[in-house]
Amino acid sequence: MSRLAVKNLTQTFDQKNTALRVLDGLNLSVDDGEFVALLGPSGCGKSTLFNIISGLLVPDTGGIYLNGERIYGNTGDFAYMQQKDLLLPWRTVIRNVLVGPEIHNEPLDTAKTEAQQRLAQLGLSGFENSYPMQLSGGMRQRVALVRTLMFRKRILLLDEPFGALDAMTRTVMQSILLDIWAEDKQTVLLITHDVEEALLLADKIYVLTARPATQKAEIFVPLPRPRNITDVSLIRLKKELLAVLQVEMSKVFDTG
Ligand SMILES: Nc1ncnc2c1ncn2[C@@H]1O[C@H](COP(=O)(O)OP(=O)(O)OP(=O)(O)O)[C@@H](O)[C@H]1O
Ligand SMILES: [Mg+2]
Repeated sequence: MSRLAVKNLTQTFDQKNTALRVLDGLNLSVDDGEFVALLGPSGCGKSTLFNIISGLLVPDTGGIYLNGERIYGNTGDFAYMQQKDLLLPWRTVIRNVLVGPEIHNEPLDTAKTEAQQRLAQLGLSGFENSYPMQLSGGMRQRVALVRTLMFRKRILLLDEPFGALDAMTRTVMQSILLDIWAEDKQTVLLITHDVEEALLLADKIYVLTARPATQKAEIFVPLPRPRNITDVSLIRLKKELLAVLQVEMSKVFDTG
């Protein structure tokens, strides 16, 4: 049975007194422990989808199901790394990443040791006592990822977690994320605008249409990891994905 299902989601926002349809009967299904990537043109409704799954936003119609049961609001099943890093500016790096354990009343000594290991793994040792404003955009993004992991949830919602990173750091972070996933086998939903990132990481890729978003394609990537983007099967899938995406992108951008 599918652990997480998005069924027939519809969402409309009021913008300048007109109704902006953002999601239009969107369906997705994600198995327990599956790594799923979501691709779609900018503004199509990807972050809106995560806001609904995590319970921050109530959809107009349709719903989110966990193991067949409809869920409402924040159920505590998800750790959500939002597109905009929402680090608390008045807390140091270590105190930011300990927010989850604090909320869960975990013994902070053990959590702190684990947090320090995670920070070191993501290249942040020595910055535990810095404040977010003292870090670069890419460093803040890595702190936000550690904070998300420290919530220790079975389902991770990652909205462009590597968007602010340069290509080299991004490659390192992708492989660290795969290591973490291989160890803990969380269910991962990853929004990315990077086709190669989706192909290197995911078991399954959903392509969403231009706004209003609905499911355009479901593409399986049944290849062992670590993957190499020059692998012939990946090159074939990349062409397929780009062709599908370009059709949707051309609806958004006037490429004349
Ligand atoms: N709270 C809101 N109120 C009104 N409109 C909203 C709200 N949130 C999102 N929108 C609109 O919904 C549309 C989809 O936004 P969303 O952030 O989900 O897109 P996205 O696919 O995540 O884009 P990007 O790839 O650029 O991050 C946009 O047109 C945006 O203006
Ligand atoms: Mg977004």
